[in-house]
Amino acid sequence: MKTLVTGGAGYIGSHTSVELLAEGFEPVILDNLSNSSYEAVSRVEAISGKKVKFYKTDLLDAEATRDVFKKEKPECVIHFAGLKAVGESVRVPLAYYRNNITGTLNLLEAMKDFGVRKIIFSSSATVYGLAEKLPLTESSPAGGTTNPYGTTKLVIEWILKDLYESDKSFDIISLRYFNPVGAHESGLIGENPTGIPNNLMPYITQVASGKLEKLQVFGDDYPTRDGSGVRDYIHVVDLAAGHIKALQKINGAGFKVYNLGTGRGASVFEMISAFEAASGVKIPFETVARRAGDIAECYADPSLARRELGFEAKKTLTEMCADSWNWQSKNPRGYEK
Ligand code: NAD
Ligand code: UFG
Repeated sequence: MKTLVTGGAGYIGSHTSVELLAEGFEPVILDNLSNSSYEAVSRVEAISGKKVKFYKTDLLDAEATRDVFKKEKPECVIHFAGLKAVGESVRVPLAYYRNNITGTLNLLEAMKDFGVRKIIFSSSATVYGLAEKLPLTESSPAGGTTNPYGTTKLVIEWILKDLYESDKSFDIISLRYFNPVGAHESGLIGENPTGIPNNLMPYITQVASGKLEKLQVFGDDYPTRDGSGVRDYIHVVDLAAGHIKALQKINGAGFKVYNLGTGRGASVFEMISAFEAASGVKIPFETVARRAGDIAECYADPSLARRELGFEAKKTLTEMCADSWNWQSKNPRGYEK
């Protein structure tokens, strides 16, 4: 099945493209490379031994987006393209609303015009905002997002729901990711943040490689088992496999939302220990104040995806750390030569 993968040169999109190729799907990647490099696409080809069609196209360019549909006639879309830095979204909210929402509207209009009716969307656990009850199920209240990035995810889910209500021939699956980490076991593709990483795992790997001096642990006074923040980390290869499961179940799906997580939380201190054990490298750290907007604890109830999609995350925290470290050590400058 020919599948248009928007944002396919990015972290999750590149890993999902590898799984698509392995499962006999035909990914066509559309990406404006604003936060990625064509090298990632070349490496997807190297891992899979197959050619991948690529369009350097911006979803904000409605005509160019339509041209890709006209040429490729995909049967379905996996929509990863978007800006994702929480802090940046607070500084430049309009750029986030324009890119993520207008980009999605252009994509959906092209789909409608070219008769493409199946889409999987990259949503996020961030749509749950300040969760009151854990674990988070798909019927936990969504809303109360704490930054413009999170709000774009929520609004896009509303748009998708309204689209489905207006035209029941659409099949739409929104996947709410928890915290994706890790890399393909080859070490050829992985997370490639620009500048100083915001997220825990890439920060840890850059401390391990000596690029950054020490990790700052944002708060040790949360009401958690060791005082540090708890998150549901999921290996990106498991996450990619979740998209294949969703694609296999998309016919007749209607509008569905699924959590993709492991159901197990790990604290920052537990992540440091797991990384040290997996890599054999000591991570110097200091505890500092809480980061604004952070919550104490967040983890999924993954049972709906297990029941309805047959999806279960398999990889352990040790594998997540080992694969992140393998990628970082083999590619200290990311995709730069
Ligand atoms: P990423 O930045 O590595 O990938 C996103 C890709 O989209 C990039 O290659 C970028 O160049 C491309 N892109 C952005 N705007 C575009 C536009 N207007 N037109 C065409 N291409 C465009 O990010 P990722 O971590 O792979 O995330 C993929 C998706 O998953 C995003 O929508 C993100 O919000 C969502 N998500 C990510 C996480 C996470 O922690 N990584 C968590 C939850 C949800
Ligand atoms: N943390 C540190 N030091 C750091 C970075 C993070 O202690 O240098 C802590 C945070 O306080 C938090 C945990 O590590 O307790 C994880 O933080 P991340 O930034 O890696 O992840 P978040 O859960 O804060 O955010 C991620 C994505 C968001 C997404 C959210 C929910 O970055 O885009 O998950 O899905 F919205």
